[in-house]
Amino acid sequence: MSPTRKPDVCQPTGTAELPMLDVYMPMMKSAAIVSAARMGLFEALAGGALEADELAGRLAADAQGTRTLADFLVALGYLTKSATRYANTDSTQRWFTRAGQIDYTPGALWTHEAWSMMGDLSSAVVAGTPQRSLWDTMRDKPHLGPLFSRYMQAFAQDLGPDLIAHVPVTDRHARLLDLGGSHGLHSIRFCRTYERLNAVIVDMPSALTDTATTVANEGLSDRIRLHPANLLDLDWVQPCDIVLYLSVGHNQHEVDNRRVLGEIARMMRPGGLLVIHDYLAEDPLNAFHAAFRLTLLYETGTRTYSEEEYRGWLREAGFSAVSRIDLNPLEKGSLLLAYR
Ligand SMILES: C[S@@+](CC[C@H](N)C(=O)[O-])C[C@H]1O[C@@H](n2cnc3c(N)ncnc32)[C@H](O)[C@@H]1O
Repeated sequence: MSPTRKPDVCQPTGTAELPMLDVYMPMMKSAAIVSAARMGLFEALAGGALEADELAGRLAADAQGTRTLADFLVALGYLTKSATRYANTDSTQRWFTRAGQIDYTPGALWTHEAWSMMGDLSSAVVAGTPQRSLWDTMRDKPHLGPLFSRYMQAFAQDLGPDLIAHVPVTDRHARLLDLGGSHGLHSIRFCRTYERLNAVIVDMPSALTDTATTVANEGLSDRIRLHPANLLDLDWVQPCDIVLYLSVGHNQHEVDNRRVLGEIARMMRPGGLLVIHDYLAEDPLNAFHAAFRLTLLYETGTRTYSEEEYRGWLREAGFSAVSRIDLNPLEKGSLLLAYR
């Protein structure tokens, strides 16, 4: 499916330049999409077009309220309207319903939580660090951990086939360590693909609440073990052949990444393979990357790193033959493969 160009609702409809639209319209756009996802509006339309009244009935919502929301979603390019019936666009069906290949609804639900956090963004900018890290907030609000893991799971469903295609697992690889493995999908996919692999998933307890069930449902409880821990405590250190460090580096400070990569190198046998997935910083940063860095500043006080930074740490740790693979599309990020 080719990408859908949606209307740029931040542009003034007249000739006057109205910078206020840059503030107001993204807020309303985000609020409308997130509300629709929370109410199950896109899912309700997954089976076909509906009249506003029918749609409202399915959502147990007011008809006029539903019509007002749906009309804005039409203007945003998320729904179409034919006569009086509303339908999902191909892109909405693809990205925000179970009928699509991957359902990013958990991302919209996470955004609902991120809203209230981002209202406080300036405090992190002033301090240069979060008032409270996302991991601490997850301890206070136990529903956040599983929701974040479900969001990461949606990304992992998308990334999984790329990993299998690009990571050269050999007969000599038997013990896999999945640092920051969260939902468990990557370990499951590798163990399913390679019968001789056993895996250990290390993550904070808040990220692992549903993982044992997922692993059990796949019939892999005898081959995949969970290790709830802060990976910076280094109590997971054990001999292994493949280490996954997938979207975890940007959650750590430089000094901690160097420490963790050093430990991985120390316990990995020669011929072992380290797989890093991340969004590598380029100069200048594009808008998406710059926004992600601002999110990290608020959530964890960390940042994204460049290929050169990773290569320097890997060299220092004793890894060699580092190769970079940029995924397609670029928004999926990049892999760094490094051998011990
Ligand atoms: C962006 S998510 C990526 C999840 C998974 N690796 C993937 O690629 O889908 C980062 C994960 O790293 C975990 N994580 C970050 N810092 C950690 C730490 N210090 N100790 C343990 N887990 C950590 C988070 O809990 C989260 O599950």
